[in-house]
Amino acid sequence: MCGIVGYLGGREALPIILNGLKRLEYRGYDSAGIAIYNGSSISVCKSKGKISKLEKQLQKRKNLSGSVGIGHTRWATHGEPNNINAHPQYSNSNKLCIVHNGIIENYSTIKQKLIKEGYTFKSDTDTEVLINLIEYVKIKENVKLGEAVQIALNQVIGAYAIAVIDNDKPDEIVVAKLGSPLCIGVGKDEHFIGSDVTPFIEFTKNVIYLEDGELAIIRNHKDTLFRKIVDDSKISPTINKLELSLDKIEKQGFDHYMLKEIYEQPKAIQDTLRGRLNISKGIIKLSGIDDYINKFLSAKKITIIACGTSWHSALVAEYMFEKISRIPTEVEYASEFRYRDPVVERNDIIIAISQSGETADTLAAIKLAKSKGAFVYGICNVVGSSIARESDTGSYTHAGPEIGVASTKAFTTQMTVLYLMAVKLSKSKGIISEKIFRKYIVEISNIGNKVHKALSANNEIKKIAKKFKSAKNCLYLGRGYNFPIALEGALKLKEISYIHAEGYPAAEMKHGPIALIDKDMPTIVIATNKINYDKIVSNIQEIKSRKGKIIAIVSEGDKEVKEIADYIIEVPDTIESMTPFMTVIPLQLLSYHIAVMLGKDVDQPRNLAKSVTVE
Ligand code: M6R
Repeated sequence: MCGIVGYLGGREALPIILNGLKRLEYRGYDSAGIAIYNGSSISVCKSKGKISKLEKQLQKRKNLSGSVGIGHTRWATHGEPNNINAHPQYSNSNKLCIVHNGIIENYSTIKQKLIKEGYTFKSDTDTEVLINLIEYVKIKENVKLGEAVQIALNQVIGAYAIAVIDNDKPDEIVVAKLGSPLCIGVGKDEHFIGSDVTPFIEFTKNVIYLEDGELAIIRNHKDTLFRKIVDDSKISPTINKLELSLDKIEKQGFDHYMLKEIYEQPKAIQDTLRGRLNISKGIIKLSGIDDYINKFLSAKKITIIACGTSWHSALVAEYMFEKISRIPTEVEYASEFRYRDPVVERNDIIIAISQSGETADTLAAIKLAKSKGAFVYGICNVVGSSIARESDTGSYTHAGPEIGVASTKAFTTQMTVLYLMAVKLSKSKGIISEKIFRKYIVEISNIGNKVHKALSANNEIKKIAKKFKSAKNCLYLGRGYNFPIALEGALKLKEISYIHAEGYPAAEMKHGPIALIDKDMPTIVIATNKINYDKIVSNIQEIKSRKGKIIAIVSEGDKEVKEIADYIIEVPDTIESMTPFMTVIPLQLLSYHIAVMLGKDVDQPRNLAKSVTVE
C-alpha cells in the first residue's frame, strides 16, 4: 500500500508529481521519491520519511527539470524504510526506473537468477528485482520497453501497480496493474497517473481505471496502447467522468483531516441518504436491493466481510439485520474468511464493506465468494474502486474523500446504508407494520441532525481528554448495538494515540478484564441502552467498587449513571438501534483530543496506511 504518481505531457513534471504525492501520502509515509527524465538522463531524488523531507531534498537539487516523471510514497513491505529502499528504483544500467505498489512474491527466485546473469542489487526491495528483470528481458529479447514489461510481468507472482520510464524512450511511461489500484488521467496532450484520482483532479476530469492484468503504454502526442498482460490482446478502456472536486479533499481550516471528517458526519450522512429516503411516500430506495429483491427475500443468511473499522460497522449490521429484518447474519474478518475454506453456496448473499474499496483481504474474499457462486453486494466509499467494480451490485456511501487514516465518517455512513438496508428488507418481508416502518424512517432522516448535536459536547470531551491523556491502558465497554462501538472506540484510541485499549461486551468484564481494574485504569462505558440499562448500571458499580475511573456515555436526561460515573458525556436520545450513531461520536473526539495532546501525528499514525492493499 504505497502511492504512485506519474506525468507525461508538456508541463514541468516535478511540481505535479510532488503535489500528487502529498495527496497520496495517506497510503504510506515511510519514504518518498521522484524520478524525472531531464533531457539526457533519468534523475532521482529520494528521502526516508514523509514527503516534507523529500521536499527539502528537492530544494537542493537542480537536475530535475523535465516533463516526464514518476513518484512514489512508500509503506514498507520488503526492506526497512530507508533511502536505499525508497522508490523509484533504478535498473543496473540506470536507464530504467520504476515505482511499484504491491509485493512480488517470487522476487527471491528471480533475484538469484539475475545474480547469475551478473546483476547486482543495492536495496532489499522486490521492486529493484522487478526493474532488473525488465531490463534483462529488454536486452536479451531485444524488445522495446512495453514488451519487456509485459514479458517480465508474466514471470512474476504477486500484486503490483507499476509505472516505468526508460532513458531510451523518454516519450513513454509504461504502467500495469494486478491487485493494486492504478488510474490514468487523460488531459489534452498530457497524461497523469495515480493510485487514485486525487493527484490530478485539478487537471482533468477524464479518468481510465486500469483493470487487473492490464498494461498501458502511454505515449506523448500519440494514442495510449492498452493490452492484456497475459496474451497481448488489445483493450478499449472506458473513459469515466470524475465528479470529485479539489475543495472536497482539503482541510478547510481544521487542524487535521480527522477532525474535519468527524465534523463532516452530519453532512456525509445526509449525502448518503439523499435520493434514498422519501418520507412522504414512505419509501426507501436502494437500487442494489430493488433490482435483486427476490435474492434478498429468499436469503437464508447474510455473511458480511470487512476489515478494521468497516468490520465494526458490519458487527452493528449483524444486530440490525437480525433484530430488524430477522435475517440470520454472520460477520467475518475478510482475512480469515479468504483462507478458511468457508461454506459458501450458490446465490448466498455476501455483503462486502470497505471505505477505500481497495483492501486486499476484502477484495480477495469477494473473489473467493464469487468463485463459489455467491452474490456480492459492495458497500464502498470510493467510486470506481476495485471492490465496487468487483461486486455484483451495491451502494456507495457518499461520505466524500476520507483522508485521515483513522476512519470516522466512512463508519457512520456505512452504518447509514446498512440501516436503510435492514429497514427496507424488514418492510419487504412484511415483518414490520407501516407505523413502525414510518417511525424508523423518520428517525433515520433525523440522524444527521442528532449527530450534529452530539458534536456539541466537544469542549467537554476535550476537558476529559486532558484528565486521561496519560493513561497507559483503557477499557471500553458496551452492550448490544453498542458492543461494536466499544470495539471501535478502542481501535480509534489505539491507532492514533498508541495507548493500549480493549473493547469488551460489558457483561464479559467479569470473565477476566475486571482483574485489570484499579485506580489507574479508566473505563469508558456506553450506557445509553434502554434494554439492559440496569445491567450496565451494575457493571459500572462493579468497576467503581474496585476504584476504577468511569467515563460514561449516556443519553441526555440520564439520572442514574450520572450519580455514579466520574465523568459523563451526554448524547441525543434516539431509538435503541440508532444509538451507535450517537455514541461513536464522543469516542472519536476523545481519541482525537488525546492524540493531539500527546503530540501524535493524528492523520498519519506510525506504521499505518489508509488503504491496506497488501496482505
Ligand atoms: O478501506 P477499508 O474500509 O476496507 O479499510 C479497512 C481498515 O483498514 C480500516 O477501517 C482501518 O481499520 C482504519 N484505519 C480504522 O480507523
